[in-house]
Amino acid sequence: MIQHNRAPANSVSADPAKTYGVAFVGSGSAKLEAVLSNAQLAEMVDTSDEWIATRTGIRQRHIAGPTDSIRSLGAEAAAIAIAQAGLNPIDIDLILLATSTPDDLFGSACQIQHELGASHAVAFDITAACSGFVFALVTAAQFIRTGAYQNVVVVGADLLSRLTDWHDRRTCVLFGDGAGALVMQRCEGSADHLLSFDLHSDGSLNDCLNAAYERESVPLTGDITVQKGRFQPVTMNGREVYRFAVKRVPEVLEKALFYAGLSTHDIDWLILHQANQRILDAAAQRLNIPAERVVSNMAKHGNTDAASIPIALDEWVQSGKIKTGDTLALSGFGAGLSWGAAILTWGK
Ligand code: UT7
Repeated sequence: MIQHNRAPANSVSADPAKTYGVAFVGSGSAKLEAVLSNAQLAEMVDTSDEWIATRTGIRQRHIAGPTDSIRSLGAEAAAIAIAQAGLNPIDIDLILLATSTPDDLFGSACQIQHELGASHAVAFDITAACSGFVFALVTAAQFIRTGAYQNVVVVGADLLSRLTDWHDRRTCVLFGDGAGALVMQRCEGSADHLLSFDLHSDGSLNDCLNAAYERESVPLTGDITVQKGRFQPVTMNGREVYRFAVKRVPEVLEKALFYAGLSTHDIDWLILHQANQRILDAAAQRLNIPAERVVSNMAKHGNTDAASIPIALDEWVQSGKIKTGDTLALSGFGAGLSWGAAILTWGK
């Protein structure tokens, strides 16, 4: 490992008298080779390209290869984002990984840190399913605004193919694999690019969307038993989650816009978690945002969980559609149930 001369992350200097803001300075996403089409799924379960496309907008999804992992794909996305930000991995102070499918239940963020050679960074995982990326972005902003950290990478990576029941047509047509990342940087408080956020959870609806640990008690010694089991494939009450999403997503975006002192007319790009094209359309319609300002890569990727927002954002940045100074409205929603929004301005 190369040795670099730089103060450890935890000693990043901050002036307690100053206020700090956040800038969004780089994005990246991993390239996955294998593509699973709707037609291929129709050979596996009782479905059709027509049903999947009209009910969800999905045409295909990417599936991780045998050597791909959260570690490798997350690091690939992060490395691109760091380079785009004009930084080196050694400059990174904090890595937050939003994932529900880590390579190791004890966390994959440290594995990504090592893969990147970001040896000065502290790294940890955040699990909030499809809300995970927005929750992680807001968490990162707290570390930056307090002055604790200067350069932060937020990775959203999920391999939902690991948790998919390939015999269940209600869910297996929805999900795909992917990884995306964003670099956030400390700036002057007066130039804060995170204009507002709003986060929510409602555990009373928890049983609508799960990848539960199913367990049984196994005798250990005397009258002591231990729990043994394994995580089950995704189960979802699709109609309930759909109803929740079309109500809560516009609501949380309206609140976040209110906190930012903005209206929907100020939004250049609406970037929602890519769960269903009909949810994107319904939210945009309720917010009166024209279709051409709604970011959608549903057809190509399906629902990639915590990765969907950073992948969509990166694709729009790389293609030049999102420009410096554009105002973005992000909203993640899903298991928990949980939902949240962040309004931000892109670029330094
Ligand atoms: O990422 C986390 C957040 N997730 C979401 O936001 C997902 C929210 N939910 C949805 O997007 C939609 O509810 C789904 C896409 C999951 C399902 O669409 P839907 O229009 O709500 O369909 P449905 O569940 O009401 O099912 C309608 C019919 C049913 O048949 P019957 O009972 O009416 O005879 C299903 O059995 O469609 C059937 N069906 C299918 N048919 C062909 C369900 N899945 C399939 C399928 N192919 N893959």
